[in-house]
Amino acid sequence: MKVALSILTADFMRVNDSLKEIINDVDYVHMDIMDGEFVPNISFGPAVVKSLRPMTKVPFDTHLMILHPQNYIKQFAEAGSQYITFHVEADCDVMETINLIKSYGVKAGLSIKPNTTVEEIKKYLPYLDLVLVMSVEPGFGGQKFMVSAIDKCKELKELREKNNYNYLISVDGGINDKTLPQISQYLDLAVSGSYVCNADNKKERLEILHNM
Ligand code: DX5
Ligand code: ZN
Repeated sequence: MKVALSILTADFMRVNDSLKEIINDVDYVHMDIMDGEFVPNISFGPAVVKSLRPMTKVPFDTHLMILHPQNYIKQFAEAGSQYITFHVEADCDVMETINLIKSYGVKAGLSIKPNTTVEEIKKYLPYLDLVLVMSVEPGFGGQKFMVSAIDKCKELKELREKNNYNYLISVDGGINDKTLPQISQYLDLAVSGSYVCNADNKKERLEILHNM
């Protein structure tokens, strides 16, 4: 299993130090961007992403939990994101935003919250490089995995096979050694935050997820 490490719950003053044992072994670093409007929490912006960029050569997968993603694509692209994912529930023209992301040579992802169905993003699937299924309500790390994500990932995999689509299927929220096995057969990429980041044995935990 490929793993994207969410650094949301990391200590930003010592992010280099505290994550150095694993930061080059993950497949992506997952940047959780929150604006206090789309979600009831604020995290960090493009300047922080840019300053973290030299930390590793691992690609950045930027997850925009913001109300107006179209206004910030340029900044997050220039800060060094290889994937930019935004929410279908945001206040923007979805197709225009996908095209805007691609115009910077960045891969485009679309995310759905727990109450949004795959049906609601069906028409965008041919144009996507990644679909991110939320298995928690976005806003905070360390929440409990919602099993409703399993059927959505299954459906996305079936649709991809049937139509020859190209997107990666990713899941975000509450991923650990107990929850990942329930969904891994339908996934390409698992986002993990607190399970890896907040543990003493980070290397071991990353290996557990990688081996699933
Ligand atoms: C939630 C974020 C997630 C979160 C994952 O809003 O999008 O990426 O940080 O953290 P865990 O793995 O702790 O649920
Ligand atoms: Zn995320």
